[in-house]
Amino acid sequence: MAHLFVVDDEASARTTLALLLRRRGHRVEEADGVASATKRLAEQTFDLVVTDLRMPDGDGLDVLQAARAQADAPEVILLTAYAEWKSAKEAIRLGALDYFEKGQEPEELFHRIDNALASRALRRENANLKAQLRERYGLPGLIAQSPAMQAVLDLVERVAPTDATVLIQGESGTGKEVIAKAVHHASPRAARPFVAVNCGAVPETLLESELFGYVRGAFTGAAGGKLGLFEEAGGGTLFLDEIAEMPATLQVKLLRALQSGEVRRLGATQAATIDVRVLAATNGDLARRISQGSFREDLFYRLNVIQVTLPPLRDRREDIPALAEHFLARAAAKLGRTLRLSPPVLERVLRYPWPGNVRELENAIERAAILSRSETVEPDDLPPHVSAGLQLGPSPALPRQVTLAEAERAHILTTLERFGRNHSGAAEALGIGRTTLWRKLKEYGIVR
Ligand SMILES: Nc1ncnc2c1ncn2[C@@H]1O[C@H](COP(=O)(O)OP(=O)(O)OP(=O)(O)O)[C@@H](O)[C@H]1O
Ligand SMILES: [Mg+2]
Repeated sequence: MAHLFVVDDEASARTTLALLLRRRGHRVEEADGVASATKRLAEQTFDLVVTDLRMPDGDGLDVLQAARAQADAPEVILLTAYAEWKSAKEAIRLGALDYFEKGQEPEELFHRIDNALASRALRRENANLKAQLRERYGLPGLIAQSPAMQAVLDLVERVAPTDATVLIQGESGTGKEVIAKAVHHASPRAARPFVAVNCGAVPETLLESELFGYVRGAFTGAAGGKLGLFEEAGGGTLFLDEIAEMPATLQVKLLRALQSGEVRRLGATQAATIDVRVLAATNGDLARRISQGSFREDLFYRLNVIQVTLPPLRDRREDIPALAEHFLARAAAKLGRTLRLSPPVLERVLRYPWPGNVRELENAIERAAILSRSETVEPDDLPPHVSAGLQLGPSPALPRQVTLAEAERAHILTTLERFGRNHSGAAEALGIGRTTLWRKLKEYGIVR
């Protein structure tokens, strides 16, 4: 049950709507004009406001602004006549969630109201969850709404206090590093270093000296000595990312270090004791590598004391809305803007399969935040293959035609991103001169 506020000067329309909404189980208050509505909004918090746009004593936009000014601002849906389409668009820019043309089926309005209430509930739940996580792990950014991720967090909570080695498996972009950090932060080692090394990205010889360190004069060029990551992570956690990529010779040395609790720097005669907790991650081809003989089975068993498997995002869609809201809030803060996702955007991101998992969703939302022209992110702002999904259910709330200028602006932004904001490169790719590009950047407000 939600607390709704219906504002309309036409008594019969207002009371009918209020009655229908009460029948649907909501608590409903009414106001017959702008003055009485803004007065009430100053005293009472609502979940949702449905307001007429044109009223004798003023403009529905004033009601909208009074509502949006509240701390825990309600969602706002505007009721308009067909001819008021332009001011409705203006209202969306001012932060209205949606508008509804009078004279349509009330079922359609109820559908929009349900959507609006659902997105408000999600936003709140998300805020609560974030607060909880901050308390538990000091990790503001970890989203786990789905039962699958809740189970992962339970496991994290149980293994964190121990020194057990954890093998984190999951497709690329599912959040393996995020979980490794969560284990570290929830462990007694939290105040000590978390050191990550990507075993696939460093050449073999370098990886060895990175991990184990070397003494002065150990090899040509080894002028000073160097601590290895095992020692640098002393008292803390060492995260071996892409462990499947580790070269065979190093696998032996790693296993020896784990079993003995000692490392010997290159060129050293004596071993040093280490105090690290080891976490490792792989994107899932470890089993294949073992059967091919390129990954040692004994090392696998040594690492695989506890196994955490992160499901792909398509198998835990419950996380998508909260992740999307989270990435949007972060992007908005970075851009210094207020942004929200329109219900059709949520529908699209829920439907898309996300082969690149959380990382792909993160990139798509960041891009949408940059491209968005108003406070509300629309499906057009998403990458085309994401927004192209089939339409479900009743008509989307806001069908919108992209103007030529909007398309040009978006294309320029994407090209600029691709060239790392290098103007000459972008201009050449766009087939225009640098001066023309500069003029367009100013015209579209991309630069000042
Ligand atoms: N549960 C989550 N909550 C919030 N952000 C997440 C979550 N999972 C992943 N992310 C974000 O998604 C991105 C990818 O996560 P991460 O780097 O941990 O994935 P990965 O599995 O290590 O990927 P790869 O295999 O490509 O290295 C990061 O920017 C991370 O912050
Ligand atoms: Mg990673």
